[in-house]
Amino acid sequence: MAESSAWVYSDTVKEHFLHPRNILRDDEDFAADGSGTVGSVQCGDEMLVLIKVADGRIADCRWRTYGCASAIASTSALSEMAKGMTLGEAARITPKQIMAYLGGLPEAKVHCSVLGDKALRAAIDDYAARNGVTLGKEKRPPVIICDCTAASDQDIMQAARDGAVTWGELQQKTKIGTGCGKCKERAMEALDEAIFEIHHETMKIHE
Ligand code: FES
Repeated sequence: MAESSAWVYSDTVKEHFLHPRNILRDDEDFAADGSGTVGSVQCGDEMLVLIKVADGRIADCRWRTYGCASAIASTSALSEMAKGMTLGEAARITPKQIMAYLGGLPEAKVHCSVLGDKALRAAIDDYAARNGVTLGKEKRPPVIICDCTAASDQDIMQAARDGAVTWGELQQKTKIGTGCGKCKERAMEALDEAIFEIHHETMKIHE
């Protein structure tokens, strides 16, 4: 792909970046039923997603991010997609669906959409924990992170549970990145998120 075309945004991305939907205003008192925050140290992004739930569906949501144009557009799109969905449906929104909704993202920015769906899941998990609701996480479809080896986010999560922290340890446990190697950045972000999620679970157990 030519360097210049790698940074072309679709009209939908531009529209959501310039006019983001459901953004949390500073003066807004949004009484959330669930709250989720995720961040990526490498990217400098941080995302907060808040949800209101009625009859098992996402009745409303708000979000805030310190991320880039893609992060803003992808979270705006995600917030529109999630409204009206059941909690299970919303928890299964994939980065691929967000990208399809946006008409694509520059390849270098794809990882930004991953944070949005993770933040939404964290908000749903928070709602579930507050209300004693059990969600079937295992029913989420795996998201392929490495096209060469077909390693998915679930493989990375398992590797993290098995103690992988570094790229070398992740490769040893999953064989990820042993082809063209272009998935390294996204895989390491997925590993960071998996470690964050495991840490979050551990905190809940000790609360
Ligand atoms: S996409 Fe992972 S090694 Fe090629």
